[in-house]
Amino acid sequence: MTNLTDITTKDIQVDSPITDRFGRVFNYLRIAVNEYCNLRCIYCMPEEGVPFQTRDRLLGRNEIFKIIKIMADLGVSKIRFTGGEPLIRKDLIDLIHFTSKKTNIDSIHLTTNGVLLPEYINRLVEIGLNGINISLDTLNKSKFKKITRREGLDKVLEGLHLAINSGIQSIKVNVVAMKDFNDDEISDFVELTKDNNITVRFIELMPFDSHQIWKTGKFFRSDQIVKYLKSHYEGLQSVTGSSTEHFIFDIKDYIGRVAVIPSYTRSLCGDCNRIRITADGKLLNCLYSQKETNIRDAIRTGMSDVEIKDLILFAMQKKLKDGWVAQNQGEDSRESMTQIGG
Ligand code: GTP
Ligand code: 5AD
Ligand code: SF4
Repeated sequence: MTNLTDITTKDIQVDSPITDRFGRVFNYLRIAVNEYCNLRCIYCMPEEGVPFQTRDRLLGRNEIFKIIKIMADLGVSKIRFTGGEPLIRKDLIDLIHFTSKKTNIDSIHLTTNGVLLPEYINRLVEIGLNGINISLDTLNKSKFKKITRREGLDKVLEGLHLAINSGIQSIKVNVVAMKDFNDDEISDFVELTKDNNITVRFIELMPFDSHQIWKTGKFFRSDQIVKYLKSHYEGLQSVTGSSTEHFIFDIKDYIGRVAVIPSYTRSLCGDCNRIRITADGKLLNCLYSQKETNIRDAIRTGMSDVEIKDLILFAMQKKLKDGWVAQNQGEDSRESMTQIGG
């Protein structure tokens, strides 16, 4: 194995694919376009929000274009726009349009809480968005208010319905599974896949919130969720899914799929193909990474594209074996998922 101290950015060939020391190849960029959100999910941020950074500290439109272009040169073929809530960003449509028309990225996705989806779905499909992941933790109005501290379930369900009828290639519903909160709704969520070609994904709660609600006994382990699914549905057939869909099943006579994402237990790290850019332009080589590479300032101080490519390749070469090792590299825990981009 290469000794890290021996690597300088000069040693890495520009425009080679982005790889690491463990043979992983990174072709999927998750870029957060803002930190602000129109909801206040209890596992994500406090009621009053977190100290959101001022606009000048966040990546501007041209900076995002530049990063996307550079990443595409380095072999990235899939992009996901995240946030905060990305649909709040006024130029999101331009960012997607640029990616679709001006780069060779072949798969463009969005993770959204869905509240603004009814307003934007037609335009998103028109400009070339390939997939939407909608975060929705309950189908019950009063529970929705409890978890998000806002109204909006009707809008999210309307957005989901419109997305299903829009012809977009991929629709997924992300459900953060929590004991004594929505564990009684697993079957209701699974039923959404009976007649709709969507994937419902149950996600483990992660420790990225200042209140640490994941310590309050709500944690629902992925293997327990899988066990629940297997005991309630006959004919579960394992299929192949995306790299986060570590467990994914077809259910006999159901059109869609169900999946479980072990985002906390982290059995998915060996297949990691993701690069993250936060809204303020920091590259994270792991969701649990405590170290950042400041791409925003590299751009702002006038580094050339070749130098920025080197910086990206170098940062990914330093990626640690898995999210456990990455988490153990430091003391800091971020205050909110909005500061990471999911
Ligand atoms: P697909 O491309 O459709 O598979 O989406 P995705 O799962 O990559 O993205 P999405 O934004 O829908 O995230 C779903 C959940 O998976 C979120 O809770 C993410 O935080 C979690 N997740 C995404 N990437 C990683 C990762 O690299 N590690 C871990 N542990 N969790 C992740
Ligand atoms: N644990 C698990 N998932 C989380 N998300 C946000 N915060 C957390 C957390 N602490 C999810 C959202 C969304 C995705 C991008 O990340 O619900 O589906
Ligand atoms: Fe907003 Fe997503 Fe955080 Fe909920 S999880 S408050 S929808 S950013």
